[in-house]
Amino acid sequence: MDLKEKIANEIYITLKSNYDIKVDLNQIKNNIEVPKEKQNGDYSFPCFVLAKELKKAPFQIASELKDEIQENSVIEKVDVVNGFLNFYISKSMIAKETVEKFDEQKEDYGKSEIGNGKNVIVEYSSPNIAKPFHIGHLKTTIIGNSLYRLYKFLGFNTTGINHLGDYGTQFAKLIEGYKRWGDEYDFSEDPIDKLSQIYVRINELCEQDENVLNECRETFKKLEDGDKYCVDLWNKFKDLSMQEFNKIYDLLDVKFDSIKGESFYSDKMGEVLDILEKTGKVEESNGAKIIDLTSEGIKTPCIIQKSNGSSIYATRDLAAILYRARTYDFDKCLYVVGEEQTLHFKQVFAVAKLLGLDKKYTDGLEHVSYGMIRLPEGKMSTRKGNFVKVKDLLDESIAKVNEIMKDRDIENKDEIAKEVGIGAVIFDTLKDSRSKNQVFDLNSALNFNGETGPYVQYTAVRTASILKKANFKPDENKEVDYSKLTDEDSINVLKLISNFEDILLLAMKKSEPSIITRYVIDLAESYSSFYNNNKVICEDEETSYARLYLTYMTNCTLTKGLHLLGIKVPERM
Ligand code: ARG
Repeated sequence: MDLKEKIANEIYITLKSNYDIKVDLNQIKNNIEVPKEKQNGDYSFPCFVLAKELKKAPFQIASELKDEIQENSVIEKVDVVNGFLNFYISKSMIAKETVEKFDEQKEDYGKSEIGNGKNVIVEYSSPNIAKPFHIGHLKTTIIGNSLYRLYKFLGFNTTGINHLGDYGTQFAKLIEGYKRWGDEYDFSEDPIDKLSQIYVRINELCEQDENVLNECRETFKKLEDGDKYCVDLWNKFKDLSMQEFNKIYDLLDVKFDSIKGESFYSDKMGEVLDILEKTGKVEESNGAKIIDLTSEGIKTPCIIQKSNGSSIYATRDLAAILYRARTYDFDKCLYVVGEEQTLHFKQVFAVAKLLGLDKKYTDGLEHVSYGMIRLPEGKMSTRKGNFVKVKDLLDESIAKVNEIMKDRDIENKDEIAKEVGIGAVIFDTLKDSRSKNQVFDLNSALNFNGETGPYVQYTAVRTASILKKANFKPDENKEVDYSKLTDEDSINVLKLISNFEDILLLAMKKSEPSIITRYVIDLAESYSSFYNNNKVICEDEETSYARLYLTYMTNCTLTKGLHLLGIKVPERM
């Protein structure tokens, strides 16, 4: 039983014996918090959650409970602050409980079975072929990869899907552009660059000349009908693009279980349209087919078929929902896509309810949106061609780390520079809550002394080197002397470590990797002050072993936390 459970039990027993109410032990446990301010004790229970049931003010409830709760060897003191019951826990108990909890899993600390038997899809990255992988795609790739790792670690059967944008009128435009100017370009180098240039050119031409635009529309129809010339070219664009995307995925160490383009659903949309027609909700509007969603509180109707009969983005998403429900029997399907597509997903999720699927599936759909990310120079647009290439950004970060480390005499410097350079970009992207708009500044992301990836990596590397130097191995037959870990610095570290599992569950529930980012910063900072104020290896053997153990727990927890963000811990730094 961990400390939270012990406290929950105390509250539970006290409630049971003093009031005539229904109480749920788990619910009490889930409401117990770790207070931000130290003067509010080690754990805190907000009594307002009982106010309705007990028909009393939170403060009164807290006061009554305080008088009844028995102080014991675990709970040293109970205090009332406003409506909160604050618990002060015996320090050696905190040490004992944390070490024991950690010992059950060690290297796998935090792992859970909570997701067993549940299927989760995380859809992320999903760039558009023949277009640059822009910085917004970097953000979905990084957030999605972290959520994917987190769900897996928590025991869910997790499928990572890359829903490539490989369908739409833009490819017809590109084919038309390629026809006109294709032989002016050498596609063996930077092919996406070249294709983008063609795309910019053909767009300009379309803006000037209506006839060209119409030609593009016809070409799109041909592409849809499987015309060989068009399909071959389109496949070529796709291959060239994937080669480029894979370079980025390799650098980021991102993997997918399934890469399926939107085009995969092109022959699966008929069924969607049939089902929707039968609901009687499909209306005609200027030749297009739409579904009115005002009853769902959505003002803009969802277009499911264009006036020229071709399908659109939303319909392909609807077909994908049907397909995924059947193929993966998902309990949750997360779409990590920028906030500018909020309306799109609202519409798609609302129309999905008309597909006759089990409620489980439509309830499981979730748009995990994120705010805009830009570089200090200003927003990038692919239409006009002034974009920043993500690959260049990652390479620049690695180069800067190489520069910072140039005088250090260490082995494998290139590999380390890569891990640190990439880690810095990932960490910075996940640092703030995902809804916040972000200005990505490489220099601050690479500040080794700030709240950054390199700083946390450095702390993890330091813990590893302390352990290595001391030749430390956890000894099954040796008990940690908990009384050696009751100083303020050690307790701060221990309390954080003991909270790891809750942090992961919260990050999962909120689809918010920044909760883990914040956590590893806190843990790294706490360990650093512990390290600055204490000698790990000292005269007293018991103290040394206890401190090494604390270092070992920190190392495992930091390493795991970083891994769940998608960041590696270098061998040395
Ligand atoms: N390819 C799209 C884009 O780059 C994102 C796709 C998002 N996923 C989806 N199922 N609609 O904007």
